[in-house]
Amino acid sequence: MLIDTYGRVATDLRVSLTDRCNLRCTYCMPEEGLQWLAKPDLLTDDEIVRLIRIAVTQLGITEVRFTGGEPLLRPGLVGIVERCAALEPRPKMSLTTNGIGLKRTAQALKAAGLDRVNVSLDTLRPDVFKTLTRRDRHHDVLDGMAAAREAGLTPVKVNSVLMPGLNADESPDLLAWAVENDYELRFIEQMPLDAQHGWKRDGMITAGDILASLRTRFTLTEEGQEERGSAPAERWIVDGGPHTVGVIASVTRPFCAACDRTRLTADGQVRTCLFATEETDLRAALRSDGEDGSDETIARIWKQAMWGKKAGSGLDDPSFLQPARPMSAIGG
Ligand code: GTP
Ligand code: 5AD
Ligand code: SF4
Repeated sequence: MLIDTYGRVATDLRVSLTDRCNLRCTYCMPEEGLQWLAKPDLLTDDEIVRLIRIAVTQLGITEVRFTGGEPLLRPGLVGIVERCAALEPRPKMSLTTNGIGLKRTAQALKAAGLDRVNVSLDTLRPDVFKTLTRRDRHHDVLDGMAAAREAGLTPVKVNSVLMPGLNADESPDLLAWAVENDYELRFIEQMPLDAQHGWKRDGMITAGDILASLRTRFTLTEEGQEERGSAPAERWIVDGGPHTVGVIASVTRPFCAACDRTRLTADGQVRTCLFATEETDLRAALRSDGEDGSDETIARIWKQAMWGKKAGSGLDDPSFLQPARPMSAIGG
């Protein structure tokens, strides 16, 4: 079991499969991209599957989420999903993607055993999409989402980050569109995890702003804490149901006390928190011989790392320091 000193138990593993991405969202990375991880530093498909096997069979992980960068850029993705689906006990599996390429892969991912997907989409306007992501791929994302829904990778959740002067006025339109298309929309408060360190609390659209804006057009009724469990999103029932809208308010309403997550980077480092400033190397153990590289040693290192998990993000501390690794290399 992966337990920390605050009594939280991690049952949800987020695995970053690559730090690369084919979009350049302004709130995430610069136009020229970043210094990508070198190939030999990346975990191989076998190494990833082995770590997931250890997590599922020895450490109590029941849910695995594949993230990036953009996880669809990982050539071995379908094979990794397939091999994880054969594990006993079989973990629940989901993918967080920007949707580009999903049209082509949705069926194969479903057949391999993936349960569902979350797709990022911040705007319904192709021109705003181009400004925001610096790529003209709006249509590909919409096609990808539809393909995921058709393939049964459901519920398809849609993640939107709102920014002043860009798409902040779109929240009611996004919700009307999501309801019509049977997607579960969630708005995410922007977090200080961008590579350029440009985040400012004053410039952020808060959960309060978003709810006020949605209420100009919809009736929202809060769902109970019971349904929420450890999920980052607080959810509201839209116009009496059945659709819901979520808000992931990491900044203004942190949910760290219920956190059940552990993270693995594409180069094999355990992160206990999105905002952790330290990491624990599993890759060195994975690549060691004998006792040093055994399943038991790896499980023990992972447990020790989680024992050191901090109470929360520290976002409200005056001494808060943004982690060196940006969002795109952590996997959100
Ligand atoms: P599901 O609702 O189960 O699909 O998962 P999710 O919302 O955790 O997944 P997703 O990958 O779509 O993440 C949505 C947003 O929530 C991203 O911006 C993540 O960075 C954020 N998020 C996910 N887990 C955590 C967490 O442990 N802490 C914080 N602060 N944010 C998180
Ligand atoms: N703050 C909040 N959410 C972010 N995402 C990427 N960068 C940030 C940020 N700085 C979102 C993406 C994706 C999810 C994994 O995280 O839009 O939907
Ligand atoms: Fe968990 Fe850290 Fe996110 Fe809080 S900020 S919910 S502790 S990962």
